[in-house]
Amino acid sequence: MDNRPIGFFDSGLGGLTCISQLMKSLPDERIIYFGDTARTPYGSKALSTIKTFSTQIADFLIQRKVKMIVIACNTVSSTCLDHLRERYPDTPILGIIKPAAQKVAKKCNKNNSIGIIGTKVTIKSKAYEELIHKLNSELKLHSLACPALVPLIEEGIIENEIMDLTIQYYLDHFISYHKIDTLVLGCTHYPLIRTNIEKLYPGISIVNPSEEIVESIIDELSAKNLF
Ligand code: DGL
Repeated sequence: MDNRPIGFFDSGLGGLTCISQLMKSLPDERIIYFGDTARTPYGSKALSTIKTFSTQIADFLIQRKVKMIVIACNTVSSTCLDHLRERYPDTPILGIIKPAAQKVAKKCNKNNSIGIIGTKVTIKSKAYEELIHKLNSELKLHSLACPALVPLIEEGIIENEIMDLTIQYYLDHFISYHKIDTLVLGCTHYPLIRTNIEKLYPGISIVNPSEEIVESIIDELSAKNLF
């Protein structure tokens, strides 16, 4: 048994969507969550800034003696995972993108047309596309940055006409033009507007990386005997 906490971090409150999923499976684990609400959003910032911020947070979590770090942020996972793993070779560090990419790669829908939405930095990194295409080159992948969504979510503007209109501003054309049948919520804030998206685009199949990462966390804890 290992009583040390698991450290999670995100630019803000989005990463909490991973924790709520994990608590259902492992309610006895202790968790330290760092949400950088003072400096959110990360998704439109320079890579050097994101690297500095995520290093500071990971240093803080390491000082708190966490047994594992979960990067509950697509923006950081898509750009800084290797750097953080090199900096802390003795601590398991999980990024959020790979488990979701593996799930998408197994998908086979009518049009095989997958939409990936996220921050500017995540979309520009092409991290999802590269991983998914390595596993399944048949899928048609389309990606779109939706930078106005995170600030609205951080402000709690969710069950609201403004949020619905903002989602439609980004997704109406994207979904209809590409005949998207599966949508990857490539930002951990987006599960908080999943209900809005499902109401506006009924029938679309959603992949939620905040759910998909839970199994990887459990596997890693089990493999390293860290429960
Ligand atoms: N929740 C984060 C992500 O998954 C970051 C959002 C932001 O700060 O722009 O990318």
